[in-house]
Amino acid sequence: MVFKIVLHLLLVLLPLIFVSFNSNNSCSNYLSYLFISFSSDCYHNPDVNDNITNIIQRHTNSLETHQVQTEDGYILNLFRIRRENPRGVIFFQHGVIDDARCWVNQYNDSVAFLFWRAGYDVWLGNNRGNLYAKKHVTWKPSDGEFWNYSLLEVGYYDLDASVEYIKTTTSDGKIIYVGLSMGATTGLIYASMRPAKSFESLQIMISIAPCTHFMYATDSIVKYIAPLSDIMQRYNKYTGIYSFARNDGLPLKFFRLFHQFFPFKKYLVYLLSVCFGWTPDEMDPNYANLMVSHYGSETSIKIIVHFYQMYCQHRFQAYDYGEVKNMEVYGSKRPFLFPLKKIKLPVYMVYSDSDIFSYYKDNEVVYNDLPEEVTMYGKLVVKGLNHVDYLYGKHRNQRLFNKILRLLDSL
Ligand SMILES: *[C@@H]1O[C@H](CO)[C@@H](O)[C@H](O)[C@H]1NC(C)=O
Ligand SMILES: *[C@@H]1O[C@H](CO)[C@@H](O)[C@H](O)[C@H]1NC(C)=O
Ligand SMILES: *[C@@H]1O[C@H](CO)[C@@H](O)[C@H](O)[C@H]1NC(C)=O
Ligand SMILES: *[C@@H]1O[C@H](CO)[C@@H](O)[C@H](O)[C@H]1NC(C)=O
Repeated sequence: MVFKIVLHLLLVLLPLIFVSFNSNNSCSNYLSYLFISFSSDCYHNPDVNDNITNIIQRHTNSLETHQVQTEDGYILNLFRIRRENPRGVIFFQHGVIDDARCWVNQYNDSVAFLFWRAGYDVWLGNNRGNLYAKKHVTWKPSDGEFWNYSLLEVGYYDLDASVEYIKTTTSDGKIIYVGLSMGATTGLIYASMRPAKSFESLQIMISIAPCTHFMYATDSIVKYIAPLSDIMQRYNKYTGIYSFARNDGLPLKFFRLFHQFFPFKKYLVYLLSVCFGWTPDEMDPNYANLMVSHYGSETSIKIIVHFYQMYCQHRFQAYDYGEVKNMEVYGSKRPFLFPLKKIKLPVYMVYSDSDIFSYYKDNEVVYNDLPEEVTMYGKLVVKGLNHVDYLYGKHRNQRLFNKILRLLDSL
């Protein structure tokens, strides 16, 4: 009996020990991860589990960290990959439950490094609440008030403060804005709520896969995750839980542990494909561990509930407090729609035919809502990338970022 238990324990523990002492952490083929110590296409990627400053230094040796304070008191870190006499200044803004790491998370072929090598002065933004934006002049992340923000505040305050700061620091003309997913959503909020100022400061807004009114994207993961956030928000006075996806929180720690020891890494592709669009051969196997080691950055539950409201009501609108409080906050029973028609600066929309999260039909509606002079550069409809493939797909450069570089060249 005891012998059997020991034998079973050993069978479980041996592979674990084996994986833990193996310095190889990346392979260019999903099946090779099963034999990570022996496969000739496996290697050690130093970026896995490393922090953002070390990663940027390793690949560019040109990092600066800046801090900017928003009008309503949040302190955000901006990472700059500096370039002297640049071709232009680019400001990248990440998606939901994420942070600036997403742009440097493709090893030496990272999006940020691609633009930096092409001659741009690259700035990486961070939303309030994420791993690099946990300070406020009065509140601490342990206070409920710290997390009292929706998409509106991120677009209206965070982006404005970041853009103005970059403009003053570089004094190099107008800035190019690149927003992905929620970074694209909040970009549209910023451009519509501050039309004159954004026109003054930005040369062009590249809006990759924004999530807006979900008129057609009715079958995405929002349907399953969002109702939960609604319940969490309802009881947060009692639970004290105001935020979601803490980088060092237990759920993400467990997920990383599971991922580290689960050898059949292609499960990740199926999981992500179900949530974000069925493209099972697109995600690059080289990034399976890199992606998971850096995934997750805290955001307010209110942001998730805000997405859920837009999803349920099919309106790209401000946060809905309910009729009575809406009257008090907005002066109307329903929250206002973000005034896309007021945008003045050129917007270049990018979306994919295979993304069920930022669905192409939803984006066509947004595109058609924009004033004609705003869409003067047209749009880019990408083929075969889902909502995570913009960052981790094998064809992301060929189908997306190289095209953006070419567009910027032609401006
Ligand atoms: C890592 O993989 C290589 C093959 O690319 C292999 O030669 C090496 O022994 C592996 N290293 C470890 C520590 O498993
Ligand atoms: C990253 O780690 C280095 C030490 O390896 C440390 O000096 C640096 O402050 C860390 N950066 C961040 C953003 O935590
Ligand atoms: C990244 O590094 C690998 C291995 O050293 C090399 O083969 C590849 O060309 C590099 N890619 C870029 C874009 O520099
Ligand atoms: C959150 O912010 C809204 C609008 O800015 C305000 O009306 C509300 O009272 C705040 N709620 C809390 C709990 O601070």
